[in-house]
Amino acid sequence: MRRRNIMIMVAMAGLTAAMAVLPGMAETTRMGQEGAVETTVHNPVADGYLTADFEDGYQPFAGRSGKVWSLATEGSDPNQVLLISGHTDVWDGPSVEVTDWMKPFGRYTFSGYFKQVTGSDQRLDFSFELHKDGKTEYRNAGAKVDIPSNLWKKIEFTFTAPEDGFDTMKFYIQSGKDEAFDFMMDEISIRQEEDVSNRYQAALDAYSLKDTFQDDFLFGAALLVPELKNEGIAEVVRHHYGSITFGNEFKPDNILNREASQASADGSPEIHYDRIDEMLQLAQKNGLKVRGHVLVWHSQTPDWFFRVGYNPDGEYVDAATMSLRMEAYIRKVLTYTGTKYPGVIYAWDVVNEAADDNGGYRKNSNWYRVMGEGFIEEAFRYARKYAPAGVKLFYNDYNEYYPVKRETIDGWIKDLQGKGLIDGMGMQSHVDLRTTKVDNFLETVEIYGNSGLEVQITELDIHNPDSGVAGQMKLADMYGAIVSGLCELKQSGKANITNLTLWGLSDDGTWLVQNRGEQSYPLLFDGKWQPKEAYRAVIDVKIPGMRQQYQTKR
Ligand code: XIL
Repeated sequence: MRRRNIMIMVAMAGLTAAMAVLPGMAETTRMGQEGAVETTVHNPVADGYLTADFEDGYQPFAGRSGKVWSLATEGSDPNQVLLISGHTDVWDGPSVEVTDWMKPFGRYTFSGYFKQVTGSDQRLDFSFELHKDGKTEYRNAGAKVDIPSNLWKKIEFTFTAPEDGFDTMKFYIQSGKDEAFDFMMDEISIRQEEDVSNRYQAALDAYSLKDTFQDDFLFGAALLVPELKNEGIAEVVRHHYGSITFGNEFKPDNILNREASQASADGSPEIHYDRIDEMLQLAQKNGLKVRGHVLVWHSQTPDWFFRVGYNPDGEYVDAATMSLRMEAYIRKVLTYTGTKYPGVIYAWDVVNEAADDNGGYRKNSNWYRVMGEGFIEEAFRYARKYAPAGVKLFYNDYNEYYPVKRETIDGWIKDLQGKGLIDGMGMQSHVDLRTTKVDNFLETVEIYGNSGLEVQITELDIHNPDSGVAGQMKLADMYGAIVSGLCELKQSGKANITNLTLWGLSDDGTWLVQNRGEQSYPLLFDGKWQPKEAYRAVIDVKIPGMRQQYQTKR
């Protein structure tokens, strides 16, 4: 019955006007069927790609809940589409296993036609479900895409396949909003896009960022362990960066070992030393220094860490117990890394994101909940106690340039400085092309810097949903203005800026897409690892004319 309703509405929908084209997404009404479709049944494992037109009963897509979706036709058109209907859970959508044919780090293009007739815009979310060692991880494959009602919309985007080592990998499509909705899809394809053998050459041929700024500050980037294991990527990293930040793997949720913590004789938390070894050996092998990120943070820190018996169902422990756990965690991480890998980690984000956007303490933090306001100073005391001499201790935060938040943070860091517990301020610098004012940002660098503390730009990216030329030019202008401003502040002695780290290696892997599901082109290298106008604008700060007359050079 439901399906019939849809079919009637579909039949009336033919004349709907085309909607605006989303950045990076092609939009069109669905073409005639002839020639456009590959009808041969093929085996993605043998062929290395997937196509599905749903004509001959070949249905690689199953519901995530196990549902079998039905095939449907529209009006008098005999061609079949897949009808996703009758599900009530937001997450329940078509899913296809890609484990045996999608190549790690391979670059793929997804393409397909989608239609819904709910009467209002709906949103689709394209993601991966990844399984490893009994754990499940979800990752956006592309940005969430809006589809208008009553119109076949072609959705096309490129993405990089997940890294090696998952037991199973599924690609799935689900509602990108709070409610499930019925939709149809057809002519789906997931194909490897290009020969990747020369993928990194342009980035390697471009002037080295770290060499270009060697007199100013250390140039760094955030990355993930599997990226550094990929020799092509590692070569680019060695060429451009002197410092790296592990974007995820040094966080407490990856370092804390729950089983061992529960079994530990003295009740202190235990850690995964092997994971630390993997990271720091990779860094050493590639001659890279590491910013340690992060010790004390409300996010990516398991809730069980704060509970009696390290048990998710236990009560929260008292402040004194938590302080002991905090000390043991910091002691174990700092002593192990400092002794076994001396000199590799040169700075730590001791406390991350403790301030509220409106000033004062962030309340939704287990650290704050269990230990109260004192947790920041305690964390720094322990870090100072166990950090090897010369390893710098930082407070790190985002929206750190909002005036009220800045006032809170500036108060904290100056107080810690008075007690000799801190060496610098980490400005995450996740800024936005449309809203951030460069003057306000640079003024903030100066404010944090005027105490003489070091300032590090720890996670710079500029959110920019426009991949078009105009958007990319504006992005370049903003990068140029920020970086030249930083160099001026450094040279004039107004702020002791010691590091500039980009949050990600290329637009392809940016967390703004993968984690937040937004369309964004925020970095210096594009999704194909080509240096962007923004890269040239950054180099131009030191090599004037670069932006105008770009020639590739090593
Ligand atoms: C982000 C990572 O990049 C994502 O992969 C992860 O899913 C969430 O965290 N501020 C921080 C970083 O201090 O640790 C965050 O990193 C981005 C915001």
